[in-house]
Amino acid sequence: MSILHGKFLHGGDYNPDQWLDRPDILEEDVRQMKRAGVNVVSLGIFAWAALEPEEGKYDFSFLEERIQTLYENGIHTILATPSGARPMWMAFRYPEVLRVRAEGQKELMGERHNHCYTSPVYREKVWEMNRRLAEKFAGHPGVIAWHISNEYGGACWCEKCQEAFRGYLKQKYGSLEELNRQWWTAFWSHRYDCWEHVQAPSPLGESDTHGLNLDWRRFCSRQTADFCAWEKKALEAGGSSLPVTTNLMGFYDGLDYADFRDILELSSWDSYPEWHSGEKSDVQTAVEIACTADYMRCIQKDRKPFLLMESTPSATNWQRFSRLKRPRMHMLSSLQAVAHGADSVQYFQWRKGRGGSEKFHGAVLDHDATDDTRVFRDVAEVGSRLQGLEKICGSLVRPRAAILLDQENRWALEDSRGPRNDGIHYLETVKAHYGALWKLGIPADVISSDCSLEEYRLVIAPMLYLLKGDIAERLKAFVDGGGTLVGTYQTGLVNENDLCFEGRVPHGLTEVFGLHREEIDALWDGQCNHVVWNDREYVLTELCERIHPSSAAVLARYQEDFYAGEPVLTVNESGRGKAYYIAAHTGMDFLYDFYLETAPAAGAGPCMKAALPEGVTVTVRTGEETDYLFVQNWNPEDVAVTVAEKLTDFESGERIGAGDSLKLSGYSVRILERPAGSGNTERFE
Ligand code: GLA
Ligand code: ZN
Repeated sequence: MSILHGKFLHGGDYNPDQWLDRPDILEEDVRQMKRAGVNVVSLGIFAWAALEPEEGKYDFSFLEERIQTLYENGIHTILATPSGARPMWMAFRYPEVLRVRAEGQKELMGERHNHCYTSPVYREKVWEMNRRLAEKFAGHPGVIAWHISNEYGGACWCEKCQEAFRGYLKQKYGSLEELNRQWWTAFWSHRYDCWEHVQAPSPLGESDTHGLNLDWRRFCSRQTADFCAWEKKALEAGGSSLPVTTNLMGFYDGLDYADFRDILELSSWDSYPEWHSGEKSDVQTAVEIACTADYMRCIQKDRKPFLLMESTPSATNWQRFSRLKRPRMHMLSSLQAVAHGADSVQYFQWRKGRGGSEKFHGAVLDHDATDDTRVFRDVAEVGSRLQGLEKICGSLVRPRAAILLDQENRWALEDSRGPRNDGIHYLETVKAHYGALWKLGIPADVISSDCSLEEYRLVIAPMLYLLKGDIAERLKAFVDGGGTLVGTYQTGLVNENDLCFEGRVPHGLTEVFGLHREEIDALWDGQCNHVVWNDREYVLTELCERIHPSSAAVLARYQEDFYAGEPVLTVNESGRGKAYYIAAHTGMDFLYDFYLETAPAAGAGPCMKAALPEGVTVTVRTGEETDYLFVQNWNPEDVAVTVAEKLTDFESGERIGAGDSLKLSGYSVRILERPAGSGNTERFE
């Protein structure tokens, strides 16, 4: 059940506070929204100046009018807290709300998303605003959820933040001795003698103490999450029990979104792919967006349906080139989000403003405000198609495969000196493994190392350099219990403070993989080695590890260099399961062939029985009795897919038998159904 009575949400950011002197336009908005099949708006995201024009003087009248009028017209509201941008008066009266940069420079009033999250004044002002908004609107039948702030990000180096950072460290390490030990500060004589000497990393000061860098990033992320929790508490203090979300930014590097897991009832994200880019094929872009969507969905504790909060109906104006979506791409990219578990398709934004830096950003209504445009028709078409898909709303994505993408691991791995300072490519590697599954039509969750592994048959943990908590034990238990684990080079080297483990590595995993690592060779760009597996030769680049099996069986070996003949691919049986180890950086060709063989054997095979042409994938959402298969063609040309099971087209009712050829036009998606549990997916529970 979605937050809108079992309906897909369709709509987007709506900023009527920019048009308060134009009642004609506000009226026209509602009329046009109905024509576009809009049933939800995200309202008032940057409206603080209109809501509190002077300190302590609140005016919610325009919100009241808009929420009520929209509701009377069948349009619901996701109401924003306006903390994404502060009003002028606040910055000038209370400069502490402004950030200090890493170099110690105080910022001036300007831009957005740049407040000090520690500042008691900012917290108090936000509390008061949120509480009042909740008191006034939480009970309105038109308001269905809260959109807390907007795209949280960035960090502040002010004294208040530094003090809070030291508080975080005191709590974490208990003593300065322990901090010195974990951060290895005897190196270069950087031992701390008192807490006050601990400063956040800065280009003017310390930037090479990896434990410090990592803890600072953790602190900033947790402080931001704490601010979000504070906003939520203020809404609750105002009497709200509505679900809250905040719009996340995919693989944004500044935050560990896992910190938001216990706060948000719903995750939502802003998706701005560069379609038709000329540098990447649409297929590559589709893989990246698919991977991001799965990551965003898995930020939620229960991995239930999430929201696509923003996307552009046409082009952005901040990417290097504002490329228009080619015909049919809007439908396909919108339904891609749905295919990955989104219960909404929402846009930034409803109507283009006349000024400001986003005046040329795509919107449903352009400056001429007509519905006689390609963009408007594309949007309306999505709205009407979503209406026909209601039965699918609320259904789950429950893959049998998971890929670990741990943000703390990413921070540590990318901050490490060596083995490849010119591109360690963690995210790219995660995406490559994901991409191989995508090509095979094998759905996957993208989870952090603190997530449960229990529901999976296949867990892929590329470059899991940093081991936090009990992840090593849980990976071992997963394999011993019958699961299949895939690990790679650069695994299990440091503890959660980026301190190298003593003894053999991968730490805590040598037994499950049945091997240990001796050393790793970093290749220059352009250099390579080769491996032969199942009579096919593959290129190896970037990183080649030298490993020594104890109990693992060797499946493939290096072809060249002084380590020719040594293992690249091994498998070890442990308990009832198996652990594969890929010791070198391979291309997608290898990963595809590897998962083609190993994923089905692990019990995580393709979700539809079919031979998928290049650029075509399938994902599945599972309802109480039905599997809904989203077959997507990311090629501009038409394709035919030979299907090997009995399915029904959900929208047209057409029956498809085993051996039939399923036609998909260029850039299109077809939704097929079959009884739940009859294919390679989990039954709905
Ligand atoms: C982000 C923001 C929006 C808007 C869009 C433009 O996602 O949340 O306010 O700036 O980008 O693409
Ligand atoms: Zn600060």
